[in-house]
Amino acid sequence: MIEKIKDLMAEVETFAVDTKEKAEELRLKYLSKKGILNEIFAEFKKVKPEEKREYGQKINSLKTLVESKIAAAQEALEDQLSKPNDLDITLPGPNHNLGSHHPITMVKNEIIEIFSRLGFTVAEGQEIEDDYHNFTALNFPPEHPARDMQDTFFIETNPDILLRTHTSGGQVRVMEKQQPPIRVLVPGRVFRNEAVSARSHCIFHQIEGLYIDKNVSFADLKQTLMYFAKEFYGEKTEIRLRPSYFPFTEPSAEMDVSCSICGGKGCGICKNSGWLEILGCGMVHPNVLRNCGIDPEVYSGFAFGMGIERTAMLRYGVTDIRMFFENDMKFLSRFKY
Ligand code: PHE
Repeated sequence: MIEKIKDLMAEVETFAVDTKEKAEELRLKYLSKKGILNEIFAEFKKVKPEEKREYGQKINSLKTLVESKIAAAQEALEDQLSKPNDLDITLPGPNHNLGSHHPITMVKNEIIEIFSRLGFTVAEGQEIEDDYHNFTALNFPPEHPARDMQDTFFIETNPDILLRTHTSGGQVRVMEKQQPPIRVLVPGRVFRNEAVSARSHCIFHQIEGLYIDKNVSFADLKQTLMYFAKEFYGEKTEIRLRPSYFPFTEPSAEMDVSCSICGGKGCGICKNSGWLEILGCGMVHPNVLRNCGIDPEVYSGFAFGMGIERTAMLRYGVTDIRMFFENDMKFLSRFKY
């Protein structure tokens, strides 16, 4: 009988309990009413009293073995059910690429922040404009070359509708709705039918400024832009205004700042001139005020417009304007902060 129990122990040991059904099979075979253990207990009654102790111990260890085998199997099966088999919690987690602001947005926000300290708010123009707001109301003569098909993207079926070539139409839209005092910025995307190269693109961004009130003079324009230049490019920055022409401002000027790269000494970026051209500006033409329902006898004001790409290229040392539109992750990840 001792031999028989030994064999049974070996059998239980090697019995593979890898499913619920197998565990139940083992239980029925050994622990149920008609199971092997009860059979052995029946035989045990016939054992001589002096041998009972040894037999008893053997039978008990067989019973404990079966019970612990079933319990261990049940625990393992439950564990398996609560976890998918292929989950390896020691693997590193997925890599989340955090986004960041686009460099154009960063420069735009910085410019807005500086002018907002002078009381400027932000208005939105529209990218799809009509001829009136983009040209006519801004005092462009009917035959002005800027209306030429080569510069402007017109809608084929209706040449009165176009993609705005500058944000200046935003001036008109603000003045149509609001009487002075006006202090507003109009940032946005503009479009010109130009060949794409490292220096110019058919899509770019501008920020327009408009200031209208009583007694606004050219000195106010200069002071405002000088404040901006020193805040944006640094305290030592100098400005210079060169006479220019825009149909919607009179007088008109272009503003240069002393080169922020070489400090005005002359370098490759400023083409050895020491100056960088950054914006166009001027006193709003009386015809424009009149077109928008503002009396030029009572009010005057100034406007300016600057390209954001150029400014961003200088700020971040970007040498190819196309980089701003390609959404190359390597390029964009330089601007994380
Ligand atoms: N709209 C002009 C341009 O695109 C810039 C400008 C804006 C000039 C406002 C004067 C006043 O070049």
